[in-house]
Amino acid sequence: MKTALITGVNGMDGSHLADLLLTKGYKVWGMERRTSQRNRVNTAHLANDDNFNFIDGDLTDQNSLLRALQKSDPDEVYNLAAQSFVGVSWDIPESTGDVNALGCLRILEAIREYNPKIKFYQACTSEMYGKMVENPANENTHFYPRSPYGVAKLYAYWITKNYRESYNMFACSGILFNHESERRGIEFVTRKITDGVARIHLGLADTISLGNLDSKRDWGYAPDYVEGMWRMLQQDHPDDFVLATGDAYSIRDFLDMAFDAIGIESWESYVTIDPRYFRPAEVDVLRGDYSKAKDILGWQPKVKLKEMVTKMVLNDLRMLRKE
Ligand code: NAP
Ligand code: GDD
Repeated sequence: MKTALITGVNGMDGSHLADLLLTKGYKVWGMERRTSQRNRVNTAHLANDDNFNFIDGDLTDQNSLLRALQKSDPDEVYNLAAQSFVGVSWDIPESTGDVNALGCLRILEAIREYNPKIKFYQACTSEMYGKMVENPANENTHFYPRSPYGVAKLYAYWITKNYRESYNMFACSGILFNHESERRGIEFVTRKITDGVARIHLGLADTISLGNLDSKRDWGYAPDYVEGMWRMLQQDHPDDFVLATGDAYSIRDFLDMAFDAIGIESWESYVTIDPRYFRPAEVDVLRGDYSKAKDILGWQPKVKLKEMVTKMVLNDLRMLRKE
């Protein structure tokens, strides 16, 4: 039985990865940090699973990471914890850097100290391409991050590569393009839209307030992407991989699909534009080339965007009806 430690287990990806590893027969330790109120919405269903345990730890606290490794003694560590919201990274740039950049260094140091044979996955991001110099972007495309979030993740990418080359550690970065699911945080544009559409349908809201509708993203389905993370750590050699769909759609396209799920064709009167949601520097388009992951990992995305959007709207309707 293999053992995995997942940081950020209560987040969207962390919870999907825990589900996947448990079905593969792993013992899973999910790291969570202290907050005034536990946020286990995405992991509530794991409470009675004998192979799943929570463990305390914080990416800003070096010793807590070493203790988490000592207690869990994992074969694989997936570092998914982060301040993951790009928009707020301009408001809290220092703590974004502390968690997203130095947090990765701290966990690599803890692995080096405790057992350098542990396999390590670092959650990197298409935000590192930012102002894309090549479209679609692949593993050799130059980076040009456009936010404190993207800059911090670029440090995590390079320090992961550096520890791989310096200490011969099995350390990989997944460069993941946007991926979403029913468990997506409510402040991200996709979930904000599907929740808003569900509310409009149920008569609980009149409009959705958004920012830039013209940016384009390469959106996939999170459960497909956590499968790719796992595959990276099952290889003979550590390497970095892009996971993406290869297609980019605008926020307007996403609105078309979400409103279509409740039978509304013209959504313009239901959407207001609020300058508060515009960013100091925007990433206009992100689109990825996942050929390397396809060739080497045998990975490809399964769920198409329209199917995912419909799943998200239906799930939000179900949850709101329950409330
Ligand atoms: P998410 O839902 O925001 O989850 C992030 C998790 O990290 C949360 O559970 C959060 O805990 C935890 N966390 C934050 N700061 C922490 C700290 N100091 N110590 C320990 N835990 C901490 O994010 P996600 O969408 O699942 O993304 C997972 C990872 O992939 C992130 O690193 C993100 O940057 C990266 N990524 C995501 C995407 C995407 O499209 N989803 C694409 C590329 C890369 P709290 O609940 O306590 O805040
Ligand atoms: N959040 C949000 N809220 N975004 C909006 C809104 C709004 O009201 N209106 C328009 N947008 C636009 C943003 O300006 C951006 O261009 C796009 O919608 C997507 O924003 P988010 O959903 O917040 O995601 P993101 O692309 O910035 O970041 C996500 O993907 C990255 C990978 O590319 C996050 O998951 C990051 O953690 C991840 O690294």
